[in-house]
Amino acid sequence: MPDPSDAAEAAWSALQADADASRSRSIVSLYAAEPDRLQRLTIEAAGLTLDLSKQPWSRAGVEAAVALARASGVEARRADLFAGAAINTSEDRAVLHPALRAPPGGRFSAKGEPVSAEVDAVRGAIKAFADGVNAGAVTGATGKRLRNVVHIGIGGSDLGPRLLWEALKPLSAPIALRFVANVDGSDIAAALEGLDPSETLVTVVSKTFTTQETMANAQAARAWLRAALGAEGDRHLLAVSANPAAVAAFGVSPDRLFAFRDWVGGRYSVWSAVGLSCAIGLGFAVFDAFLQGGAAMDRHFLEAPLERNAPVLLGMAQVFNRNGLDRVARAVIPYSQRLRLLPPFLQQLEMESNGKRVSARGRPVSRATSPVVFGEPGTNAQHAFFQMLHQGTDVVPLEFIGVARNDEGPKGAHAKLLSNLLAQAEALMIGRSEADVRAELSAKGLAPAAIDALAPQRAFPGNRPSSLIVMDRLTPHALGALIALYEHKTLVEGAIWGINSFDQWGVELGKALAGRILPELEGGPRAAHDPSTDAWIEKLKTSPA
Ligand code: F6P
Repeated sequence: MPDPSDAAEAAWSALQADADASRSRSIVSLYAAEPDRLQRLTIEAAGLTLDLSKQPWSRAGVEAAVALARASGVEARRADLFAGAAINTSEDRAVLHPALRAPPGGRFSAKGEPVSAEVDAVRGAIKAFADGVNAGAVTGATGKRLRNVVHIGIGGSDLGPRLLWEALKPLSAPIALRFVANVDGSDIAAALEGLDPSETLVTVVSKTFTTQETMANAQAARAWLRAALGAEGDRHLLAVSANPAAVAAFGVSPDRLFAFRDWVGGRYSVWSAVGLSCAIGLGFAVFDAFLQGGAAMDRHFLEAPLERNAPVLLGMAQVFNRNGLDRVARAVIPYSQRLRLLPPFLQQLEMESNGKRVSARGRPVSRATSPVVFGEPGTNAQHAFFQMLHQGTDVVPLEFIGVARNDEGPKGAHAKLLSNLLAQAEALMIGRSEADVRAELSAKGLAPAAIDALAPQRAFPGNRPSSLIVMDRLTPHALGALIALYEHKTLVEGAIWGINSFDQWGVELGKALAGRILPELEGGPRAAHDPSTDAWIEKLKTSPA
């Protein structure tokens, strides 16, 4: 039996060889060289279709990538995820978000402790509460019908629910949601503006229930409720947390707590009670269909062979670009206004999960990890930063997300949107040669000197890679499948890079320093800092009113 690390090194070498070869061949030439390429690299998964044929890998590169996934223990990590093993090793926690979207009656265990009955019970409580609010059976303190929810949370307690709401509210939105994340007072001021407290629920969403921003905003919202409704205003407060003691200390009554466990990571938590506001605002049926979409992707991830496995191949395309070709960024461009919050969601999911420089065993990693992930919806992005993507000095791989059908808005709008998506992917791949531009300019009668100056500026190098993910319609099910696809892709990459994708120690230092600086800004005793920080504390100290 060969040593697994030898197999991994052999796969890395083969992947690198294909990546090196890709620098001097065109992606488009591979369709002729590999007649089955399009069909082989088009994957169906839980209602989504992925086209990975515009990536720079040849058949040999894809085979090396799959061999690398196998040799790096992707299958074992996947099995550990679903088995509830403590794969978040630095915190000794299981990572069990699939349990949250499994059909009722599941048999998941976290570190050996059965969890599915509790998951089902919380889901039942969410349904009962959401249905009660929507039916008018759960009312505000004055008996008025509840019409708004203000969702307070940050990071994973914000980005998923916010994405869900923006993406799905055109389908059904019986109750209006507003979101507050930033500790900047402008955020909560805008969120509460114009709302009637007697018609408004406030959900305070925080796994730890200690996050500075969320607790500050929760206090502000509670004061706003009490100012209008007195102590009864507290009945409008809901808490979603894995820290029931802190929730009780804050004063939220136990019947208004929707709990989840420490085996739910913040950026993987939208499936848990963290989605409560969405279940209320969109209706439980929509939230449930979203869960089912996630569960469908779980089944695909578990059952599809690695060669046809969407999260595996999408992750390996990133590994090919990041490690084989040293590409430091990836752009995610949803051609869907309703998916405009997908890029910020993925920034946390991928960069907080895989932005690590040491392995799960505390050793420096041997290869680069998470790229910078950024994006904006198409077509807006085309008119902002696509210049750089087409003609800049760096190659930035792209991921296009498309929705095949959408009847919203004026007739013809959707075909225009899709034409742009396909055109951008084509232009990035095929480019436009300088010779072609020269011929056109010469036919227009330009002088040779002008052609010499202009033609290189108007040529497109092409050979810039992209992936395409298409859903039929932007339904709750499709969105669930899409988010679960990215979650599993993130796990696959973490396995390749040998890192723990489920902790986030890198956010701690800044939090601790902010805790030290705050009292100094408020006029308290000064501590030692570097000269720049010292100077700015002095300048920005709150001046006495
Ligand atoms: O600071 C980062 C972080 O811990 C994220 O991982 C998390 O999603 C966010 O803060 C919010 O944390 P909490 O849900 O505990 O308020």
